Amino acid sequence: MNLLVLIVVVVALFAVRYLKPNALAWAAAWWIAVFTGLRFGIDPPLPSSVLWMFMFITTLSQLAYLGASGDRMKEVAGGLVSFFVDRRFTVPLVIVLLLVPLLVAFKVYLDITSSPRPPIVTRTIHPPPPPSISFHGKKIDLITVDNPYRGLETSDPATFTEHVDNGRRVYYQNCVFCHGDNMEGDGLFAHGFDPFPADFQDATTIAMLQESYLFWRIATGAPGLPSESTPWSSSMPAWETFLTEEEIWDVILFLYDYTGQRPRARETHE
Ligand code: HEC
Repeated sequence: MNLLVLIVVVVALFAVRYLKPNALAWAAAWWIAVFTGLRFGIDPPLPSSVLWMFMFITTLSQLAYLGASGDRMKEVAGGLVSFFVDRRFTVPLVIVLLLVPLLVAFKVYLDITSSPRPPIVTRTIHPPPPPSISFHGKKIDLITVDNPYRGLETSDPATFTEHVDNGRRVYYQNCVFCHGDNMEGDGLFAHGFDPFPADFQDATTIAMLQESYLFWRIATGAPGLPSESTPWSSSMPAWETFLTEEEIWDVILFLYDYTGQRPRARETHE
């Protein structure tokens, strides 16, 4: 409640009453008073949809009030006619006739010059990883670490396939419920979660990321996300508790193998 505004509105209404206005002016004064009271007299402010719903009801009840008696109707009609033809009202009439298009133009101007606002809740989906994490008590340097089994892809394809197969087992035992049969983030449980589990077929997830980044996200899950990723009620579990280091590297191989994506190469620094 903003008491000051409400007091001003009530005092202003009394002042207008004192001037003995006709029915139309009195109705207009009430309309403005109700609007001012609702718009500025309530704290926190009403949503504008609610405000305009109240104003719509106010307008309807005023029309009903004015239309309910023949005398009042005549007063309103007479008031309107005299506002347009009476010489006394030439100046206010000109002001009103100028003001209406000017206000419309001003509103259009405001609408086209206001810059689009970002959504109220913003999340950093891919925050920078920490330089290192501790995994089962061992320090893993995320800046330099590579998937130890990636090299086998060219040097020893048979062993590489074994690692991919092990990754497949890990995936279908642990990840499929959320990330889905086809890795599109639509597993059995996915619909219960906001944000949705990542869609690995989408070009903005694993194709954009390095394997060390995936290792970090899989090992530490949602609890490992830094504060710039909040509010972020991710359900991604911290797999460090359930999987070995090898199993995590293997499931990473499987994610890329299954989707046909390639991990992002490490930037080389001079
Ligand atoms: C309980 C549901 C759930 C399970 C089970 C789950 N995840 Fe997730 N995962 C999520 C959600 C939700 C996200 C998206 C939010 C986030 O990034 O934390 C996510 C995100 C990820 C990301 C980050 C992708 C990106 O673009 O940053 C990776 C990688 C990932 N999951 C891998 C896995 C792997 C591998 C497993 C199995 C070992 C697994 N997840 C199991 C829910 C799950």
